[in-house]
Amino acid sequence: MDRYQSTILVTGGAGFIGANFVLQWIAEVGKPVVNLDKLTYAGNLANLASVRSDARHVFLQGDIGDTPVVAKLLAEYRPCAVLNFAAESHVDRSIHSAGEFIETNLVGTFRLLEAVRHYWQTLPAGHKEAFRFLHVSTDEVYGSLGPADPAFSERHNYQPNSPYSASKAGSDHLVRAWHHTYGLPVLTTNCSNNYGPFQFPEKLISFMILNAIQGKPLPVYGDGQNVRDWLFVTDHCSAIRTVLARGLPGEVYNIGGNCERTNIDVVRAICRTLDDFLPDSAYRPHERLITFVKDRPGHDRRYAIDTSKIKRDLGWQPAVTFEEGLQQTIRWYLDNEEWVSNVQSGEYRNWLAANYAQRQMVT
Ligand code: NAD
Ligand code: TYD
Repeated sequence: MDRYQSTILVTGGAGFIGANFVLQWIAEVGKPVVNLDKLTYAGNLANLASVRSDARHVFLQGDIGDTPVVAKLLAEYRPCAVLNFAAESHVDRSIHSAGEFIETNLVGTFRLLEAVRHYWQTLPAGHKEAFRFLHVSTDEVYGSLGPADPAFSERHNYQPNSPYSASKAGSDHLVRAWHHTYGLPVLTTNCSNNYGPFQFPEKLISFMILNAIQGKPLPVYGDGQNVRDWLFVTDHCSAIRTVLARGLPGEVYNIGGNCERTNIDVVRAICRTLDDFLPDSAYRPHERLITFVKDRPGHDRRYAIDTSKIKRDLGWQPAVTFEEGLQQTIRWYLDNEEWVSNVQSGEYRNWLAANYAQRQMVT
């Protein structure tokens, strides 16, 4: 059976990466998607506005940990693959309050795996073999690198340091165990930091873009020398499609942008691009808005991905350079004021108060 011929089930498809994936899937594959999302603060149906009346997209609000709901969905739509994007995804929030991370990322993934396993066991032979459970995970499970360490390969030890990365690491282990113990045909992807349209403005790039446009301080944690490996979100989505199509069950694939940048360099690049895009802005030069603030506890120093396996085995590599991706992203936030004002209301303000009020300026 061809995985591209029938319905897939995506979880967390109203969030940043999930929504980008659903939009790309409908546009480029054109097959039906069932989208199960709890609609937490990070889930936003406005991300899916362009497929609202598209019969190939079915949205259902629900929790991956709600077994009766998931079992009913699986029985009704009989997907050929389940892609698990649903998660609590922000490190700073996990430091303030880890409970939801354990609930969704660990217990939720466990319940989802069990529901999927029971469904998978009922499939006829050909469909059973062709079925895939693709688990979307993060490079943060590998811990932190020193400046001269080789980038994370799939063989790197798991050494998670934050409640977020520990909960994702636990979910990766469950996925692995469900393959080895029950034979469930799983695929796991561990990706580096994403950026692009529809990212909730709590992560570095989306947050700094909006603060800079609005003339607010740009709070860089610590010395700004922490390094992340940046990947434009559509490249992550194309990598996931590649792994779904050609990855081997039980295998792990690391995905990255081959694009290491210090945080301060990223923030300066945002400022320079906005200086060019907004020649009449009262906040030019935007770099004046940069402030160094108290560091994140347990802040991982460096992440970097060794992409040689996915390139060699599956022929995938990123298509969008950091400079192009950043320009597209900034243009998107400038062009989507209504989306921005909707997400910057309500709960968002409480989060800013909780995370930034106690981070006094250090310069
Ligand atoms: P996000 O926070 O933007 O979106 C998460 C989505 O999951 C939201 O729509 C939310 O409503 C939904 N959700 C949360 N709990 C749920 C539950 N119990 N049941 C159903 N839906 C639920 O996250 P994102 O940045 O789009 O990340 C998606 C996935 O990719 C996550 O698994 C994350 O760990 C992983 N990842 C993210 C990045 C990144 O840079 N953002 C990098 C690598 C991997
Ligand atoms: P983030 O986008 O939260 O992703 P992660 O912690 O999962 O890598 O943060 C990226 C980097 O940016 C990280 O080193 C923390 C830093 N950072 C700041 O310096 N200031 C901020 O306001 C935020 C949100 C992040």
